Amino acid sequence: MTNTYAHVNPLLAPADADHMLAIAENLGHFETYADEGTSEGLGESLPQRFDVGLNYVHRGLDGKGCSDEPAVALGRTNYFRETYVYGDEQRVDGIESFAAHPLILQSAKSLSGAAIIVPAIVYANILVPGQELAIHTDVPEFRGLNRKNTPQWLLVCMLHSKLFEGWRVPIMTCVAWFGGNAGGAFTFYPGGGAGERESISADHNTAIVLDTDRFFHGVERVKTPSLKETANEGIAQVGSGATLEYAGQDQWRLHTSEGRRFDYQWADLRYSISWKGYCFVDADSHHKWRQSEDCLNLSNVQEIFERDLRQRGVHGVAALSPDDYARLLVATYVSFPDESDQT
Ligand SMILES: [Fe+2]
Repeated sequence: MTNTYAHVNPLLAPADADHMLAIAENLGHFETYADEGTSEGLGESLPQRFDVGLNYVHRGLDGKGCSDEPAVALGRTNYFRETYVYGDEQRVDGIESFAAHPLILQSAKSLSGAAIIVPAIVYANILVPGQELAIHTDVPEFRGLNRKNTPQWLLVCMLHSKLFEGWRVPIMTCVAWFGGNAGGAFTFYPGGGAGERESISADHNTAIVLDTDRFFHGVERVKTPSLKETANEGIAQVGSGATLEYAGQDQWRLHTSEGRRFDYQWADLRYSISWKGYCFVDADSHHKWRQSEDCLNLSNVQEIFERDLRQRGVHGVAALSPDDYARLLVATYVSFPDESDQT
């Protein structure tokens, strides 16, 4: 089987890797990856990634179920994020050694088979003790449609349906880890959702490169050396409005919007930096994307889905409420890995 991912160890020169921690300290302030807006007329009252949330609540991270109260489950998965580079805009100093790293570009090229890689974004995630990331695939893009104009769950259904491959803009992702947290392994299904789940520990200055739009992945629970914060009563219930501030001398301070405070050492936190790049198989597909040629719109998408659903014997889709339509598409096209089926 061809490789579906590259594990890079080490990634950066030691001083550059240490500087990745300094970038977060200098920025000094992280906010949560809050829900983005919903789109009118299509599942408008559902969270953007209700597909992931439902699966997490039913099955937890490991398929054994989730025993948390909803507020605790929400707090476990609402992590902190800041963007370091967006297109040509570099928002922090010293990220160049990461953003243009030849090993990342080379791995993205060979895994995707692309001739042209266009770096798109670099961002940092911080998870605090007790947090984890539900199994999911990332939000893909298609010519004409992305998360700015289309519900995220719909883009995810489009990818998994394979009905829109001619319009897809393949994206490769590199996730790199920095710092000393002992938990928070990256967990994923490198052979596809029907295969085995594997884990790679999130060791300092190592990275994985893979197509996170296609391959299901998540983050195992983040631990702290004392473990006390990973118990339900000890974890921060990170709702929207929570902030994480660098307090100097390796200390971070979390404030919840309810006024609670949690203090952490750097080593308690799981800090990762992600890179995403568009992958074009040839100059023609790059040109089409740059010139916005042959773009999809939402009515094309609905027509293509309706035609496919009719062929599957599903009729009366037009009469469904927007939320029921959204649920039907996720149930029809997104197959989450089911570990209970594995032997
Ligand atoms: Fe992801």
